[in-house]
Amino acid sequence: MDLLPYIESHREEHLNDLKEFLRIPSVSTKTEHKPDIERAAQWLSQQLKPAGMEKVEIVPTKMHPLVYGESPQRPDRPTVLFYGHYDVQPPEPLELWTSPPFEPEVRNGNLYGRGTADDKGQVHIHLKALEALQKTRGELPINVKVMLEGEEEVGSVNLWDFVQKNCDRLKADALVVSDTSMLGPGVPSITYGLRGLDFFQVEITGAKQDLHSGVFGGAAPNPITILAEMIAKLHDKKFRVTVPGFYDDVDKLSAADRKALNSLPFKEKEFRKTVGAPGLAGEAGYTIVERLWARPTLELNGIWGGYQGEGSKTVIAAKAYAKISTRLVPSQNPAKIAKQVERYIRQLLPKTVKCNFEVLSQSKPWVAPHAHPIFQKAREALQRGFGKKAVFIREGGSIPFVTQMHDTFGVPCVLLGFGLPDENAHAPDEHLSLENYYGGIRSVALFYESLARA
Ligand code: BES
Ligand code: MN
Ligand code: MN
Repeated sequence: MDLLPYIESHREEHLNDLKEFLRIPSVSTKTEHKPDIERAAQWLSQQLKPAGMEKVEIVPTKMHPLVYGESPQRPDRPTVLFYGHYDVQPPEPLELWTSPPFEPEVRNGNLYGRGTADDKGQVHIHLKALEALQKTRGELPINVKVMLEGEEEVGSVNLWDFVQKNCDRLKADALVVSDTSMLGPGVPSITYGLRGLDFFQVEITGAKQDLHSGVFGGAAPNPITILAEMIAKLHDKKFRVTVPGFYDDVDKLSAADRKALNSLPFKEKEFRKTVGAPGLAGEAGYTIVERLWARPTLELNGIWGGYQGEGSKTVIAAKAYAKISTRLVPSQNPAKIAKQVERYIRQLLPKTVKCNFEVLSQSKPWVAPHAHPIFQKAREALQRGFGKKAVFIREGGSIPFVTQMHDTFGVPCVLLGFGLPDENAHAPDEHLSLENYYGGIRSVALFYESLARA
């Protein structure tokens, strides 16, 4: 059978198989899900054989295992390394899901469940594309190496170590990743830029224990107030980050960059609808697309402390906390930015409290040219798979592995995204459009096939 008819005739089977994968709650951040992570790794390792991998290995790390596979490597053929992650974000708050996060369900042409868009659904697209090639041709047209990570959502902590120790093994002519989005429905997209990331946790300590706010209020420092004051000083009125030196290394956008970004079919009205707030916010002087993809930011991800239960409790908490991240763009350096942020935060705090500053994860920003012929092949494959014009975009999210690979091997990184910006990644009711799932399988199979031709 030919490739596309094969894919078409296996729609039901592929979908059921993906549902099985999604039922495993592979939440990487919680220890209670460790057995599920192991189970997901097992499940994947079994999928790699029919996808044409002859060598399959589950590689233990200090935290969660990597699943690695290799097809028979023939020296006369190009080699692709495919990377994806099988871990997912925690599903909470559970009450906001229409159907339970780990009981995948199709509604209105979308598959709902944690990991559908980020990233199990997209990983599955590649597994099924490879399987379709393997089944219809009896072998893969190119050399494929597959690396599936279980720690992406917690910052790919142990990945660097593996990459360093396995440089030879991971060598490839290109890296292929599907862990990004399309610009919008019907606009297949190749991503050539990602923002970097610094993630911090700040702990402010005042008294040695919680205090009665009547007995001590007025004379004891309040860590929550002090934290709030400090946070309020991190941006100015124009929504610029006030950390000294923060913008020093930011590459200026060229006129050509700005033109390329701003002439994309980005739908501002749709974006406003997706956000769903009464208005948008952001740095003055930049378009929305520039703010999202090409400008650095500082965000509060969480802030807590004190009494949060029902009713009132008069208390001055001993501690207050904040989770703060920065999104970075070329040529900002995550280590340098972390130092600048820590120094500034300490400077803003009064001597009445102590501060513990912790860096939880880091990822370098990445933008790369897309002149290499492989990008043209990717574009053509997407256009055939979707029957729509494909575009080159940058995105605001971060994938630590992409920069690591680009820095280590200097190979082209082809990011084919099949999610959509409004599919609720990291949020309740995460979903994946089935049209994009099947369009993805077709495109990826056509792409891998096209790489065998010079
Ligand atoms: N798939 C996302 C990254 C992404 C999202 C890229 C949207 C482009 C568009 C990935 O799983 C993710 O969530 N990454 C984290 C960083 C990580 C170090 C925790 C992120 O971007 O917050
Ligand atoms: Mn992801
Ligand atoms: Mn994610």
